[in-house]
Amino acid sequence: MYTGTKVRLREHRKAEIQQSLKMINDPEVMKNLVGKTPFLFTLEDEEKWYKENSSSNDTYNFAIETLEDGKYIGGCGINGLDWKNSKATVGIFIGDKNYWSRGYGTDALKVLIRFIFEQMNINKVKLNVFSFNKRAIKSYEKCGFKTEGVMRQEMFRDGKYYDDIHMGLLREEWLLNQ
Ligand SMILES: CC(C)(COP(=O)(O)OP(=O)(O)OC[C@H]1O[C@@H](n2cnc3c(N)ncnc32)[C@H](O)[C@@H]1OP(=O)(O)O)[C@@H](O)C(=O)NCCC(=O)NCCS
Repeated sequence: MYTGTKVRLREHRKAEIQQSLKMINDPEVMKNLVGKTPFLFTLEDEEKWYKENSSSNDTYNFAIETLEDGKYIGGCGINGLDWKNSKATVGIFIGDKNYWSRGYGTDALKVLIRFIFEQMNINKVKLNVFSFNKRAIKSYEKCGFKTEGVMRQEMFRDGKYYDDIHMGLLREEWLLNQ
């Protein structure tokens, strides 16, 4: 149910907290994820996140592992859920940079999208991405997301202002490509 062509989405494991912290604290990873001032997370932060978000609840967070050798390479899941309007806001990171631009992120997100539409009965999946993150934007487009709005100069990073791009995928659009 949670398997794509390159990855499997599975539960987060306590034993991987240190590894997860190392991935998330990599400046090249972090700059794409946090809107606030990019500052290192502590082990306590990561343990708290694990405690609050790894178990089954409305956030539904998955670890991403490769199909070929079961290597833990990142995570994805639901950051916000609006049951009344049937919308889920998602997030993803591949923390092992050796796996960037090789199709793993797109595959993982496709599995997550399928889970949301087929298991949760949600109508719309949405996300936001900083305009400098060209790799992520390309990956989201490959999953079928469309740009719905551009929040101009929302994000100050590395000495410049960048736009925050809002993207969405409707269930009816996704169904057309199944
Ligand atoms: C964003 C992320 C999940 C994408 O996963 P990925 O496995 O690297 O991406 P994919 O290989 O599936 O797709 C990326 C596409 O962008 C392309 N690409 C890479 N760099 C690019 C660039 N600078 N400009 C345009 N396209 C680019 C790749 O070639 C690929 O397209 P292709 O398959 O047609 O060749 C992953 O890179 C990541 O986790 N990055 C760090 C954290 C992050 O940015 N998270 C998302 C925050 S919104």
